Amino acid sequence: MLLASIMPPGIEEVAAREVSEVLGLPVFGVSVGKVFFRASTRDIYRANYLLRTSTRVLVVLANTSFGTLRDIRDVASSLDYREFLAPGRSFAVRAERVGEHDFTSVDVAREVGTAVIESYSSLTGVRPTVDLENPDVVLRVIVRGSSLLVGVETSGRSLHRRGYRVYNHPAAINPVIAAAMVYSAGATRTLLDPMCGGATIPIEFVHIRRHYPIALFRRDFAFRRFGIYEPDVDRDVLEELVAGVDMDSPVEAYCIDISWKAIEGARANLASSYTSDAVRLIEGDSTKVSTHPRVNVDAVVSNPPYGYRSHNIRKIEGFYREVLTSLRNSYPGVRAVMVTLSHRQFSKAAEEVGVKVVGSTPVKHGGLLARIFQTIL
Ligand SMILES: C[S@@+](CC[C@H](N)C(=O)[O-])C[C@H]1O[C@@H](n2cnc3c(N)ncnc32)[C@H](O)[C@@H]1O
Repeated sequence: MLLASIMPPGIEEVAAREVSEVLGLPVFGVSVGKVFFRASTRDIYRANYLLRTSTRVLVVLANTSFGTLRDIRDVASSLDYREFLAPGRSFAVRAERVGEHDFTSVDVAREVGTAVIESYSSLTGVRPTVDLENPDVVLRVIVRGSSLLVGVETSGRSLHRRGYRVYNHPAAINPVIAAAMVYSAGATRTLLDPMCGGATIPIEFVHIRRHYPIALFRRDFAFRRFGIYEPDVDRDVLEELVAGVDMDSPVEAYCIDISWKAIEGARANLASSYTSDAVRLIEGDSTKVSTHPRVNVDAVVSNPPYGYRSHNIRKIEGFYREVLTSLRNSYPGVRAVMVTLSHRQFSKAAEEVGVKVVGSTPVKHGGLLARIFQTIL
């Protein structure tokens, strides 16, 4: 079957690499916020347990172009939902729409919902129940310009909800973006996050290096309610992934933050994510990295304050200059990957202090357009 993993637009390339290298499946195609790949039922489980740079995994029922709302309904009517919607299970349609259309996403959801009822009733003689609040099966419809994707949700809650976070930093990074940054930094052994807040980035790093499956920390996945769900195969996949956890992988992360409250929160997150043994917490000022004990790091990955909440926007450029200078003095030549909403200020600061920006990618973060910078200190 064809699967599509969904991610915040901007990290598709890293996400596609994760599909081929971690799942070992060839990528069939990439489009805005989506990576397509062919997979078996077993791979639905593996994809949900292993893909750290995707927010959801869909079984693709239709991936086509359309002209009118009526076309969308016709496509949805022609599909067979029986493998996923077992008798007695409820469903809901969730629609997303990007672009100019003479209909809304609510119209799309209504039309597809009607089409599902018609198709299912005519094939089974049973009318499926709609439950908008707490459905067993969710059909996701993504309309972007003239392209239409109809898929069945296999993940349930977004995969960025890892299940290990017990302390929510007020400016916490989406773990999916954190993981994409970690992959792109290419750190193999040691990583430094000099403004680590609740430690999301160090935790993602350790989980990636040790191959912790996401299912170690959350149990709820929508595919467990499918008609074609096979509990024995699921158990087998989980056993295989747990056996593949590599606690001997040499991995070490350093997590610096100026706020004791963040450090205490990070400590709680490390404990709940089984990473306390691999991450060292340092309460300190990253504009003065040279005053901390010197460590060897393969890469620096961080999301510094953007200036909107915790720092004054007018002062943020000066702050970036100080942090970058301090990091460059201690770790010259090391790759640093940073994400910020204040990208103009970051670019200017990097240029002024001689930190080389070797690439930058826009990425949607919490509804806002941030930018991931690849730099050499
Ligand atoms: C955007 S938050 C990081 C959030 C983190 N990635 C997470 O997921 O929880 C930025 C962090 O930078 C810290 N910070 C601000 N100025 C700092 C400085 N001079 N040295 C070290 N940390 C600093 C703040 O306390 C805040 O926790």
